[in-house]
Amino acid sequence: MASFLVTGGAGFIGSHLVTQLIHRGHTVRVVDNLITGKRRNLDHVSGVEFVEGDLADIGVATRAVEGMDYVLHQAAIPSVPRSVKDPISSNRANIDASVNVLVAARDAGVKRLVYAGSSAAYGDTPTLPKREDMPTNPLSPYALQKLVSEQYGQLFTQLYGFETVTIRYFNVFGPRQDPGSPYSGVISLFASALLEGRQPVIYGDGEQTRDFTYVANVVDGVLRAVETPKASGHVINVATGGRISLNALLRAMNKIVGTNLQPIYQEPRAGDVRDSQADITKAKTLLGYTPIVSLEEGLEKTLEWCRTESTAGSRR
Ligand code: UD1
Repeated sequence: MASFLVTGGAGFIGSHLVTQLIHRGHTVRVVDNLITGKRRNLDHVSGVEFVEGDLADIGVATRAVEGMDYVLHQAAIPSVPRSVKDPISSNRANIDASVNVLVAARDAGVKRLVYAGSSAAYGDTPTLPKREDMPTNPLSPYALQKLVSEQYGQLFTQLYGFETVTIRYFNVFGPRQDPGSPYSGVISLFASALLEGRQPVIYGDGEQTRDFTYVANVVDGVLRAVETPKASGHVINVATGGRISLNALLRAMNKIVGTNLQPIYQEPRAGDVRDSQADITKAKTLLGYTPIVSLEEGLEKTLEWCRTESTAGSRR
C-alpha cells in the first residue's frame, strides 16, 4: 500500500481518484483551496486526511507532499472562459501552484507525479483525432497554462530525473460535476437544465464536437500512469476516442430524460476549440488502457445521479 497526495481532491475528478485509492487500501491526503472543490465531495469516503490550503503558497505545497509516495496533481481552475475573463488568478492556480508542487515533490523524494493535462493544448490544429506528437496551439490562457505546466513536468523529468507523467483529459463528465457556475462543464449544465425543465444554452451553432469521457475512464488511466514504470516522462491522451456535436449530445440527453427541450443559441465563446477527439493508441499500448464506460452508459449514470441529487436537494 502506498501514500498518495491528491491535489484538488475535493473537486470533481479529484474526488473520484480519492474514492478509488481508498477503495484499493491506500493512504490518501487531499489538499484543496475549495475555490471550485467542495468538502462534501468527500463525505462518502472515510479515512482521508484533508488539508485546506492554496498550493500557490510554497509552504502549503511543501507540507502537503511530506511523506507521500505519489502525487496526483489535479488542482486547477479548469475553465476556458474563466481564464479568458481573469487570466491572472487562473495563471496562479494553473501554473504557480504546479511549479510549487513539482519543486516540493522533487525535494521530498516523491516517487512519481501524475499531472492532469488538457486536450485544450491542441487548440484548433487541423487533424483529428489528436495524437500526442502533434503540434500544440493553445487558444486560451487556460489551454496555455495547462500546456506550460505539462512542459514543466517533462522538464523536471529530463533535468532532475524526477518522474512525471501527464494525462491529457478530454471533456471529463460524471457524478459530482457541479453545474453551479456558468463556467461548469457543458454536460452538467445540460443535465440540470433538462431536469429542471429549462432550455439549455448552446454557444455557437452546436456543431462543435467533443470527446466526452466518463470519469471512471480517467481514474483508470491515471492509476495506470502511476503503476506503469515506462510511462515516466510521457504525455498521454486518456479519452474514449469518439466525438459528438453539442446538438447531438443534447438530443441524446433529452432522450434519456424523456424531455424535448430545444436549445437557446448564443454567440460562440472566445477561446473555444471547434473540434476535439483523441487518438488513444498511446494509452492503449503504453498503459494497457481501454475505455471501460461508453459515452451512452456514462450519460445514463450521470443523469441518474443528477436525478437523485435533485430529489435529495428538494428534501433538504
Ligand atoms: C473542457 C473542460 C476543461 C478541460 C477540457 C479538455 C470544463 C468546465 N472544462 O473544456 O477543463 O481541460 O474540456 O478538453 O469541464 N457550451 C455550451 N453551453 C454551455 C456550456 C458550454 O454550448 O452551457 C459549449 C462550449 O462553448 C464548448 C463546449 O460546450 O464549445 C464544451 O464546453 P465546456 O464544457 O466548458 O468544456 P471545454 O471548454 O471543452
